Amino acid sequence: MKEKLIFTNLVGEAVDTLVAEAGNPRVVVVADTNTAQYVLPLLVNDSKAVAGAEVITVKSGDSNKNLEALSDLWKRLSDLEATRSTLVVNLGGGLVSDLGGFAAATYKRGMKCINVPTTLLAAVDASVGGKTGINFGGVKNQIGAFSEPAAVVISTIYFNTLPQQQILSGYAEMIKHALLEDSATLGRILGYSPVYPLFDSAALLPLIEASVGVKSRIVEQDATETGLRKALNFGHTVGHAFEAFSYKHQSPVPHGYAVAWGMIAELVLSHMQLGFPTETLHQVADYVLKNYGAFEITCDDYPELIKFMRQDKKNASPDAISFTLLEAVGQPKIDCTADIKDIEAALDIYRDLMHLA
Ligand code: GLY
Repeated sequence: MKEKLIFTNLVGEAVDTLVAEAGNPRVVVVADTNTAQYVLPLLVNDSKAVAGAEVITVKSGDSNKNLEALSDLWKRLSDLEATRSTLVVNLGGGLVSDLGGFAAATYKRGMKCINVPTTLLAAVDASVGGKTGINFGGVKNQIGAFSEPAAVVISTIYFNTLPQQQILSGYAEMIKHALLEDSATLGRILGYSPVYPLFDSAALLPLIEASVGVKSRIVEQDATETGLRKALNFGHTVGHAFEAFSYKHQSPVPHGYAVAWGMIAELVLSHMQLGFPTETLHQVADYVLKNYGAFEITCDDYPELIKFMRQDKKNASPDAISFTLLEAVGQPKIDCTADIKDIEAALDIYRDLMHLA
């Protein structure tokens, strides 16, 4: 199945059309505590199908993406006597599409769902491509399924109230997609600044469409991440290490920020191993420094960061650290490995580029 991607700011109309096309099934909306309060009333106004739907609310926050919340969700679907033909509308960020998508994939062996992402990060990443699931046993996304939604309705109308940090966090994944695509797309993405008060949400929608197109084409070729989809992990090996480090030291950084900084370190490694062009590396590093600032590390932090990289579940063995690297913009190379000396050298250059050294 291939999910239908709809880019429009007329969200209610799009949802009603999808529901009508599906034969007007019963609709259940899954929202988190925030979207239930702030976004659902807007969609109720705009969509007949949502106005007439039952609503299940889940607690917001990644720590609530757990078995208990999933079990509550299954129970609520049972209590509502939902059937396999009931349509689930996931209204929220990544927590909702992961949890609601997994509940829909498993309840009565699978019901259809539509994702309506309400954050930029969810619009360009989590809501597209069918990764669903929960955290389990202290491991993120340990239990889940690849299960694509029937459709994703992507708009920018819910972003106006998002904090600046959340917009930039999502935008980092758009930089990543552009790096995986081509120089023209990268030029468009680096030519736009998603920063208030200049932030122009009308100009953002076509950029999101281009960005989601990159992810969608990759997922189409490798839905279950046996090969090419690993390209989407670019920036995430170092990024996850920065993120884990920030949590451990009680100064948590948003996921996308960690990925933005991780991409710089991994572009440096790409240059060292595969000759990724210096000029583009500097261009991306300057953009990241200007908009995201720097993740401050010293060489004393390297052993701890490398320990986090070793724990990354993408590694085939504890001794080899795996990366997706880039030969050039649009030319990812999956399953690269780097030794400790190279990673330390890349982190040194990262600090230079971020004016930390
Ligand atoms: N977030 C990366 C992927 O969906 O594969």
